[in-house]
Amino acid sequence: MCGIFAYLNYNATRERRHIVELLFNGLRRLEHRGYDSAGISIDADPFRAPLTVSSGAVLPSPPPLLFRQEGKIEKLVSSFYHEAVVAELDLELSFTSHAGIAHTRWATHGEPSPINSHPQTSGEGNEFLVVHNGIITNYMDLKETLLKYGFHFESDTDTEVIPKLAKFVHDSLNEDLGSDGGDKQVVPFTQIVMDVMRQLEGAYALVFKSPYYPNELVACKRGSPLLLGVKETGDMRTDINVESDLSAEGHHGKPKEYYLASDANAIVEHTRRVLVIEDNEVVHMKDGAVHIFKFDSDKSRRLLRPASVQRGLSTLEMEVEQIRKGNFEHFMQKEIHEQPDSLTMTMRGRLIRGGEQKAKGILLGGLKDYLKTMRRSRRILFIGCGTSYNAALAARPVVEELSGIPVTMEIASDLLDRQGPIYREDTAIFVSQSGETADTLQALEYAKSNGALCVGITNTVGSAIARGTHCGIHLNAGCEIGVASTKAYTSQIAVIVMLALLDKDMKELAALLMDEQSLLVFGRGYNYATALECALKVKEVSLMHAEGIVAGEMKHGPLALVDETLPIIVIATGDASLNKQQSVIQQLKARKGRLIVMCTEGDAEFMCPDRTCRIIEVPKVHDCLQPIINIVPLQLLAYHLTVFRGFNVDQPRNLAKSVTTQ
Ligand code: F6R
Repeated sequence: MCGIFAYLNYNATRERRHIVELLFNGLRRLEHRGYDSAGISIDADPFRAPLTVSSGAVLPSPPPLLFRQEGKIEKLVSSFYHEAVVAELDLELSFTSHAGIAHTRWATHGEPSPINSHPQTSGEGNEFLVVHNGIITNYMDLKETLLKYGFHFESDTDTEVIPKLAKFVHDSLNEDLGSDGGDKQVVPFTQIVMDVMRQLEGAYALVFKSPYYPNELVACKRGSPLLLGVKETGDMRTDINVESDLSAEGHHGKPKEYYLASDANAIVEHTRRVLVIEDNEVVHMKDGAVHIFKFDSDKSRRLLRPASVQRGLSTLEMEVEQIRKGNFEHFMQKEIHEQPDSLTMTMRGRLIRGGEQKAKGILLGGLKDYLKTMRRSRRILFIGCGTSYNAALAARPVVEELSGIPVTMEIASDLLDRQGPIYREDTAIFVSQSGETADTLQALEYAKSNGALCVGITNTVGSAIARGTHCGIHLNAGCEIGVASTKAYTSQIAVIVMLALLDKDMKELAALLMDEQSLLVFGRGYNYATALECALKVKEVSLMHAEGIVAGEMKHGPLALVDETLPIIVIATGDASLNKQQSVIQQLKARKGRLIVMCTEGDAEFMCPDRTCRIIEVPKVHDCLQPIINIVPLQLLAYHLTVFRGFNVDQPRNLAKSVTTQ
């Protein structure tokens, strides 16, 4: 939820148009994180007259320009160019150094509107500007205090307290040091940010910009993700994997470009040399050098500049193609079709081959030191939300069958609401594509505090859940950009086979169903999760009501809904529950149900001898792997339904890719 992007060039002359386009493009790459509103802040013309703000301080550089708009990024882009013409903004003006910040929002506090968009400002003169991803939980208390000090608030956001606090800290530190502000500035930017951090509770990744510190940016984080990309201009060796000292003074003078982003997607097309910023780190970019400080919560050290720490850059292991749609119309469509590859990647290096190349075992390096403890667990708990929960549900029967350990399922928010019991003897497995879902993360803290062994299954290296668990498995499914999770689902179930499926049939079926109000999906056993996941996909992207139902419950209520009009999908692929599903089909037929039956290839005649049902045939694989095959045509159904109904496939209404709020 919410995407941050920032760009700073040093000794690398760039036109304003280039900088603005770079910021917009960064936001486009992050739009799946939130698409309610967006904004950017850029430098004003440097030769503008200095501004004296009402406190009497003279800003050492002109107030930064702020452009904010509700709606999608393209709306911001067009309003920017419109305003630029009106304000006679020189887009060809060159900057040797320039600091720009940008944000795309998924509203939590306050409706989408220009005022509630980021960057949020300290007020007059934009003395401090901030972009934020996360939630400040104590913002009401902070706001109350700041109001007492005479600050005026214009937005309904939690974020607005941050730039206002920065101004408050800046003014009071200067007073303490006897400085009158303005160009006699003595307080380092990082010090202000650390003082602000001391006041904040909640989760955040922040980037600060200020006319007191022209050509500087400060970023910090706690809980929400943030990456720094570093590029030496003209240096095309972006794939080198050298440990580079970010703090080295010797790098001064060389043209540099820095990128800050919530997600690697927005960085990879510029550089692969990145630093994953850790919680409680404060990153300061100035004069072609990056300094990293560890946040120090000790209030008595307020005026002491902490020593910087040394960190090496790492290399992004992703291809630029991953962030492009290629020949596909939508990311969701691309990601459904990528599943043979993403599944291969998930399994690569993890199957131990015996004689004649037959699979002999599984190697999960990330778990090796913990397998004994896991095997001795009294219980395994799968914890996740949405699609990730469904994936774990699909895998539960086989885990139970093979491990002999009881497995329970927990929706993360429900576990927290109930404060459900978790014990030291439990293994809690956290499933999350993004690795940053707030509910799952909180459940992880809860399980850890109860002493359980915590295992993470995520698709994002270095994510909060990956780092917060004792051990884990990385999905390696490649980045998922469509908000509706698809390829992560199948990788999460961890499969061996992927067979070609016919897209055309599902498109025809979608055309038939596109005007319906509602859809029921019946599954059981291994495919109960498939029914839930199909209904979730249909609901979230095509905005058609859909319900996944465990087929055994049909006669305990849902049967009352059945008539000739309501479409019903019955998943009846050949496994141990086939006979029961056949009887479900008979009962539905007896009530003239409008049936779509998913069955194993060659079984159509047997499942529906009178040919009154629409059939989806899928290849037969081992029972426990069948959910991976079965979900693919249903994902395609959701995709085509959405396109036919004219909705946005990759950015469904009201949703965001990573839900970092509770
Ligand atoms: C649905 C979807 C969501 C996520 C859920 C958890 O298509 O994507 O239901 O699965 O928000 O997200 P992660 O897996 O990132 O924890």
